[in-house]
Amino acid sequence: MNKPLSHHETIVPREHLDFRLDETVPKYWFRGDAYKTRVFDAVQSGFPDGERYFITSVRAFRDCIDDPVMRQEVRDFMRQEGQHGLAHTRYNQMLERQGMPMEDILQEGKDEFERWTKTYSPEFNVAHTAALEHFTATMAFAYFARAAVMEGADPRVKALFAWHAIEEMEHKSVAYDVMQKVAGVGYFKRVAAMAYAIKNMIRYTYIYTDRLLEADGYTRRQRIGLHVRNFFWLHGPRKGIYGSLAGKLLAYFRPGFHPTQEPTIHNYGNWLEAWERTHDPFAACDALCAAAWR
Ligand SMILES: [Fe+2]
Ligand SMILES: [Fe+2]
Repeated sequence: MNKPLSHHETIVPREHLDFRLDETVPKYWFRGDAYKTRVFDAVQSGFPDGERYFITSVRAFRDCIDDPVMRQEVRDFMRQEGQHGLAHTRYNQMLERQGMPMEDILQEGKDEFERWTKTYSPEFNVAHTAALEHFTATMAFAYFARAAVMEGADPRVKALFAWHAIEEMEHKSVAYDVMQKVAGVGYFKRVAAMAYAIKNMIRYTYIYTDRLLEADGYTRRQRIGLHVRNFFWLHGPRKGIYGSLAGKLLAYFRPGFHPTQEPTIHNYGNWLEAWERTHDPFAACDALCAAAWR
């Protein structure tokens, strides 16, 4: 394990990154494992429209922001999310080329995000955004704190997730501060939105993983078997992709919580140092993984 380089995070929009997601990326890019690959594929499929929803929810309060520092952070947050949306659109196009029903899946997701925008108050939508942003800010810990989690993944997909996870951590406070300081959302609405966000994350992870596996030709019985056999990989309390985040998600329910109270991932500085030196997201991802816990 390389020595972790400590660094305080700042929001840096990095644009036009090319992860080379072409037909040479194996269909089951995660260790040849269909189920686990499709979980990652499913979770990320909603990112482009999800990020548009985040931007819309925060933008609703933009004109009420007086603080110039916060205005700049909101601009940088939008630029980062815009780039994430573009990169994950290319990822979804790769899935489409594999024969996955992305048009239907993306339309359903888009309809759902639009329904939230139309149905709920701007305050609840920004609270829901802040909650989902807390979720995405923890992504770095779930995927990249321990080396074993992403070992054996295709380097192109891994580098995309690493860049996205790092930037989510960089802007982890932006939607939260807009929610609290500008929209004036209090404790109960904030935690109700988090409960709703957790339900949505888990629900849509299963719905879209199942849809992708069905398109892969797995029968209903086979799919149920896969969900059951992989339950602990996803929800195990110590090492599960979601299960290991329980403590960080529960912290959000604490009165007085603020995202800056959560520590930055120990190997953030390694990603950043390699990025600043090379401007190569693959080299940065390698540095991040080399400093991950063994
Ligand atoms: Fe993002
Ligand atoms: Fe984000």
